[in-house]
Amino acid sequence: MIDICVGHTAHAVYCIWVINLNEMEPDIITNRTKDLTADEKDKLEEQNKRLVPEFKANKLEIDAQRHWDLFYKRNETRFFKDRHWTTREFQELLADQASAATGPQEKRTLLEVGCGVGNLVFPLLEEQIKEETNAGFYFYACDFSPRAVEFVRSNSLYDTKHITAFQCDITSEQVHEHIAPESLDVCTMIFVLSAIHPDKFKAVIANLAKLLKPGGLVLFRDYGLYDMAQLRFKPGHKIAENLYMRQDGTRSYYFAEQELAQLFNDSDFEVISNNYVHRRTLNLKEGIDVPRIFLQGKFRKRIKSQ
Ligand SMILES: C[S@@+](CC[C@H](N)C(=O)[O-])C[C@H]1O[C@@H](n2cnc3c(N)ncnc32)[C@H](O)[C@@H]1O
Repeated sequence: MIDICVGHTAHAVYCIWVINLNEMEPDIITNRTKDLTADEKDKLEEQNKRLVPEFKANKLEIDAQRHWDLFYKRNETRFFKDRHWTTREFQELLADQASAATGPQEKRTLLEVGCGVGNLVFPLLEEQIKEETNAGFYFYACDFSPRAVEFVRSNSLYDTKHITAFQCDITSEQVHEHIAPESLDVCTMIFVLSAIHPDKFKAVIANLAKLLKPGGLVLFRDYGLYDMAQLRFKPGHKIAENLYMRQDGTRSYYFAEQELAQLFNDSDFEVISNNYVHRRTLNLKEGIDVPRIFLQGKFRKRIKSQ
């Protein structure tokens, strides 16, 4: 089971290896990121020797949608793996959990932000259809890239009885043209906020706060501070603290736990859980050790009277 990017230029070598790996140590869930070795500290220091020039960083922001759309033009539906782990990590995504909250006939509503080609929503929808349950979710799925949305719409499971996909920039007001305020039970954001410039994080979280019912949940997983991929960036790729440019023009940010908690706290959410997930995949035969650090959290929109 793999839940990291497969084939990104910045970590291409690792990604090819991961496919063949066979020994996964149990995840370590902690509120600490890794202690850097002297060598890793040097690598991070090296990155500061040549930053992405300001004009180029600004251009990356202007062209952000184009870069993601080209990414899907190149990779089509081949890049990300179906995310079958989501119900293990977030039990709120199980169909029976969903019905427990609203009653057996009423479907809950879920928005997958930055859905890509649907690797999170389709496994959930498939399960729901297999179980022939009336419970579960009505899914909304949005992405910046029109091509990604087209891939979602052309999936054989796509049916507006169950799912609506639309293109939008989640940092803008566009999402409110598609979804009514305070109508959602759950928002999922899986490796998406890291693709957005940190100056816009607040606007994204404020949008989610507007869309969710009081008590609604954000389920979050993304790159954690000092993840292997962050340490591997060479000089010329760093844009700002913990923000990097990949070879293909897309960007990735590496989140500190407290910073993420603060972001949600400031925007009317309480933190239910928020931890680093340290994952180590070993292949002794090949001599490969792939340590990854993700940040995973659940945040609940405050209920005003509380
Ligand atoms: C690393 S991919 C993850 C895709 C998907 N969530 C998954 O896990 O397979 C990041 C996604 O975020 C989308 N994205 C980037 N900026 C966005 C924005 N401002 N609004 C909506 N989606 C955005 C990209 O188009 C891309 O599909």
